[in-house]
Amino acid sequence: MNKILTELEDRRSVARMGGGQRRIDAQHSKGKLTARERIELLLDEDSFEEFDMFKAHRCVDFGMQDQQIPGDGVITGWGTINGRMVYVYSQDFTVFGGSLSETHAEKICKIMDMAMQNGAPVIGLNDSGGARIQEGVASLAGYAEVFQRNVMASGVVPQISVIMGPCAGGAVYSPAMTDFIFMVKDSSYMFVTGPDVVKTVTNEVVTAEELGGASTHTKKSSVADGAFENDVEALTEVRRLVDFLPLNNRDKAPTRPFYDDVARVENSLDTLIPDNPNQPYDMRELVLKLADEGDFYEIQEDFAKNILTGFIRLEGTTVGVVANQPMVLAGVLDIDSSRKAARFVRFCDAFEIPILTLVDVPGFLPGTSQEYGGVIKHGAKLLFAYGEATVPKVTVITRKAYGGAYDVMSSKHLRGDYNYAWPTAEIAVMGAKGATEIIHRADLGDPDKIASHTKDYEDRFANPFVAAEKGFIDDVIIPRNTRKRVARAFAALRGKSLKNPWKKHDNIPL
Ligand code: HXC
Repeated sequence: MNKILTELEDRRSVARMGGGQRRIDAQHSKGKLTARERIELLLDEDSFEEFDMFKAHRCVDFGMQDQQIPGDGVITGWGTINGRMVYVYSQDFTVFGGSLSETHAEKICKIMDMAMQNGAPVIGLNDSGGARIQEGVASLAGYAEVFQRNVMASGVVPQISVIMGPCAGGAVYSPAMTDFIFMVKDSSYMFVTGPDVVKTVTNEVVTAEELGGASTHTKKSSVADGAFENDVEALTEVRRLVDFLPLNNRDKAPTRPFYDDVARVENSLDTLIPDNPNQPYDMRELVLKLADEGDFYEIQEDFAKNILTGFIRLEGTTVGVVANQPMVLAGVLDIDSSRKAARFVRFCDAFEIPILTLVDVPGFLPGTSQEYGGVIKHGAKLLFAYGEATVPKVTVITRKAYGGAYDVMSSKHLRGDYNYAWPTAEIAVMGAKGATEIIHRADLGDPDKIASHTKDYEDRFANPFVAAEKGFIDDVIIPRNTRKRVARAFAALRGKSLKNPWKKHDNIPL
C-alpha cells in the first residue's frame, strides 16, 4: 500500500510541476503567478478539489506523443469563495503556452457541465496562446465545445473570466461570451490576431499593449469590465465580486451581515444638487452614501463614464445600480453609455438582482457621429433591457429627466415599481431654453420675450410635480432620507412576481 501511495504522490508531484521549473521561473519573472498559485489565492484555503489531474492529450503529430505533461495545460475543479461554491479552471502557460487541445477542452467542459447541473458560477483564469497548433481541427472542435457551453450557461450561472496572460484566437472568444471579463495590467492581452498578423494583413504597426492591453479593452473597446494592477489584486477583486452574486438563476442574491443603519440620514444630500442646473456634481457621492458601508463594486469604471454601473448592498442584499453621471458629458445617454448600461441591466435581470436607477439625464446625445454610429439602435438596447426586466426596479430622479431619456431610465411606464423624485427634479420633454427656442421661434429676436417664455416654461415644468400629479412619480422625497426610502422600497418588493409572455426568446436590437 505504501508503495502505491508513494507512486500516487510522485505522479501528483510531476503534475504539479506543469511545464517544469524553467518555465515556472519564466512565468514568475514576468510578474505572473502560476496556474496553481492563482487558484490558491482565488479560493478559500484548502477548499480546492481538483479533477483530471492526470488527464493526457492524445495527439501523435509533430512528436507530441513524446511530450506528455499530466493535466494537459489546464487545472480544473471546484472550491469555495467565502464558503460559497464555484467551479474554476486555470490555464497553465508553462504547458504548451496554455494552448487548448482536445483534452484540455474536455476538462473545461466537464466543470462547466457540473457548474450548470449543480448551480454554481464558473471562473476561468485564462493564460493561453489559443488553439493548440499541433492538434489542428481537434483543437478547434474543443473550442467550439467550450463556446457552446458558454452559451448554454449564459443566464444560468454567472461566468467570470480573468485574462492573466497573452490570449489570442479562441482564447478570447470564450471569455467574450461570459458575464464579466477582468484583465491584469501590463501582463495580459486579448486579440483575435496578434501584432505580427495585423502588420501582414493591414500594414498597421501596433504593439501588443496598444492592440489588446488592459487599457485598450477597458477604455476603448469595452471588451473588459475592469483592470487590476497584478494577479493578486485581480483575484482578490474577483472574490469580492462573487460575494455580490447569486450562485445561479434560481438562487437569490446573497444577504450578508451588515453594520450600517438602514435609516441613516445623510444631511449632505440636501445640498448635493447645485443651484445652477448646468453645474455638474458627482453622482458617485450619492451611490456611496446610499450603499451599506459605502461599498460600491463598479463595473466598467473606465468606459462611458457618463453612466455608472455596479453593485451595492442595501440591508445586506445585493442591488445593481445604474446612474447617470453629470460630471461627464452632463450625464447624457449616447451609444457607449447605452450599451454599457443595457448589458448591466440584463445581467441583473437574468440573475434576479434588483435594480436601483439614479437619474440625472439631459437626453440623448445629438449629432452625426452618434446617428451614423447607430445611437437609435444602441439607445434602444437600454430601453429594451429596462422594459423586459422583471426584477424589482426602484428609480430616483435627482435632477434632469428629459425627453426619451426620461422614458428609458426605468420610468414608471417601463414597469418601474417605485419611482421617486427629489424636489430638485425637472421632468420635461427638454430643457427650458431649448423648448422656448422651438415653441417661440417667432420671438427669437427679442431676448426679453425669450427670457420671459423660458421662465414660464421653467415654472411649469422644471419640477417633479407635474409628473407626480399624473402618478408617474410615486412620491417626492427629501434627499437626506433617500437611503431609508429606497431600502424600504426594495424590502417591500421582496415578494415581487412578474412574468413576461411566453416566447422562445426576444429579439433585442443587437
Ligand atoms: C501550441 C503554443 C501555442 C499554441 C504558444 N505555444 N502558443 N503551443 N499551440 N497556440 C508554446 C510555444 O511554442 C512555447 O513553447 C510556449 O508555448 C510559450 O510560447 P512563447 O511564444 O515562447 O511565449 P511568448 O513569447 O510569451 O508569446 C506568447 C504568445 C505566442 C503571444 C501566445 O506564443 C503566440 O503568438 N502563440 C500563437 C498564438 C496563436 O496564433 N494561436 C492560435 C490562434 S487560432 P516552449 O516549448 O518553447 O515553451 C485559434 C483558433 C480558434 O485560437 C478560433 C476559434 C474562434
